[in-house]
Amino acid sequence: MKFKIQNLRDYANEYHNSVVSPEDFWSEIADYFHWKKKWDKVLEWDFDTPSISWFKNAELNLTENIFEKLLPTHEHKTAIIWEPNDTSADAISITYGELFKATCKFANALQTQGVRKGDRVIIYMPMVPEATVAMLACARIGAVHSVVFAGFSATALADRVNDCKAKMVLTSDGNYRGNKKIPVKAVVDEALQKTHTVEKVIVLKRTGEQVEMVPDRDLWWHDTIANEPDSHKAEVMKSEDLLFILYTSGSTGKPKGVVHTTAGYMIYTYYSFINVFQYQTDDVYWCTADIGWITGHSYIVYGPLLAGATTLMFEGVPTYPHPGRFWEIVEKHRVNQFYTAPTAIRALQVHGTAPVEKFDLSSLKVIGSVGEPINEEAWHWYHENIGKGNCPLVDTWWQTETGGIMISPLAGITPNKPAHASLPLPGVQPIIVDAEGNELIGNNVEGNLCIKYPWPSMIRTTYGDHQRCKDTYFSTYKGMYFTGDGVKRDHDGYLRILGRVDDVINVSGHRMGTAEVENAIDEHPDVIESAVVGYPHEIKGQGIYAFAICDKSEKTPEDLEEEIKQLVRKIIGPIAKPEHVQIVSGLPKTRSGKIMRRILRKVASRDLSSLGDISTLLNPEVVDEIIKGAGLD
Ligand code: WTA
Repeated sequence: MKFKIQNLRDYANEYHNSVVSPEDFWSEIADYFHWKKKWDKVLEWDFDTPSISWFKNAELNLTENIFEKLLPTHEHKTAIIWEPNDTSADAISITYGELFKATCKFANALQTQGVRKGDRVIIYMPMVPEATVAMLACARIGAVHSVVFAGFSATALADRVNDCKAKMVLTSDGNYRGNKKIPVKAVVDEALQKTHTVEKVIVLKRTGEQVEMVPDRDLWWHDTIANEPDSHKAEVMKSEDLLFILYTSGSTGKPKGVVHTTAGYMIYTYYSFINVFQYQTDDVYWCTADIGWITGHSYIVYGPLLAGATTLMFEGVPTYPHPGRFWEIVEKHRVNQFYTAPTAIRALQVHGTAPVEKFDLSSLKVIGSVGEPINEEAWHWYHENIGKGNCPLVDTWWQTETGGIMISPLAGITPNKPAHASLPLPGVQPIIVDAEGNELIGNNVEGNLCIKYPWPSMIRTTYGDHQRCKDTYFSTYKGMYFTGDGVKRDHDGYLRILGRVDDVINVSGHRMGTAEVENAIDEHPDVIESAVVGYPHEIKGQGIYAFAICDKSEKTPEDLEEEIKQLVRKIIGPIAKPEHVQIVSGLPKTRSGKIMRRILRKVASRDLSSLGDISTLLNPEVVDEIIKGAGLD
């Protein structure tokens, strides 16, 4: 595979080249791809506006770099292995040739149903191969996909539809998830009552549930493709044309639509995939993420398929029908690279090693981690019991906004150091700054993680609101992209990610904005004000702890707590449901009226050491009451 780094010296060389002459470095990699027209300029950028353009004015279609480019050698190679939720159902293998035909058919169907280049299509689907087909078909015709995790509520879905003014929604009659059936079509129906841009809904038959099909709006997937040809002429796209929008939570307001564009994203996901995982031609690679998150986009779909890999897609959950399901799948499909989140590891760790020992994991060559800091205990458990002590563990740090893995060991090349994301990939220039934005030079320093130079798959804008992109990422520290994460560079120069330094909580590897949860809580008629913080949670990494003032409520605190939990679940989705709700009579505030979250975090973490000076608060007396209410006195 071209551009695969072979050893540590190679890495050092490549890294050096990528910093000294980034444009030569990336254009050499870009030359590997198929272009309809080459670029005028490799890179134009300014982080103040911000404005970033890679491979300006070049023309291509990303899917031609999966299909037309690879089919001569990959037609009969398995592209996707699909493992269904239910163990009694058969797994399915789809070759590159078959995937191409399915993509073309659906691309034609989308066009027949009126979708045009630039239109936004929401994908709210289960983990089935058709979800990948849907993404690729959008890319084929130049439509912009926005995948919404199928666990989000109708309100969250409606917000996303409205924000991007989607013309179409792709969904299914229902989803299987462990022993549950999720009625996703009903969620779509409810969401679309609050929107007015969607013209058509295409429904995949999955569970066979009775669903209501709205006349003139809803169509069955199988009907839409029945008469469509299995070839399709790809739309010609410019490098900076939108590939997709993916919504993610930040520290303020509603989720924002992170925009990724075509050429840079393509090049970076390919390059990072082959290098981090050291993928070899006949390997079977498995990433357990959901396609509703960036990890699914970049490392189930785009990166692996651009590299001609065999990518495994799993419909179910790690503990169904038994806590050895992951390992059963590894054995069954002889998986070589396995990529998951620390939260899954911790959840399985609880079941001990018996479920692991039942299965033969000898096919594994590389194991990976993503989504949140991995604690040392989980790192060692994963390394010893799954990697049997001899698989390199790649702890990959990156974000929805970065599009691809930024800081990570390269499997088998970078020496492993527990809980360290370690070193930046070639082309990535991290910088650690203090609160004032001064660079912290040398080793043994700790500060805020920024990136000081553009990389191809970086965020271009937040959909429909460029100012928000500027304010969120490019204004905290002038001339740099600010990640929102804290980091430490240790005595060897290896990086360790410390977690978010802003008001974002990472629950089971999913990002939740505290403001977003507070807004949901405030919808409760009895709630006057609320504050949400994260606290350390053994399995989820962080849990959500909410404090709410409900002064005049006639209800008991227990009832209020339960109602608030259910309300958040309904407005955002089950992943945002607070673990704890504490009804309080006041929230600790500074004299300027700002909530002192530091104190609330201490209470939520059940750690009252170094509570700090509270005498400057407007209402110091509430602190005692809150401590008592939490049962900490
Ligand atoms: C966190 C997921 C520590 C981090 C790809 C980041 C991590 C946020 C790691 C992005 C890691 C992700 N070590 N923290 N290996 N990977 N994070 O957008 O706080 O869902 O800012 O992207 O997850 O989450 P997102």
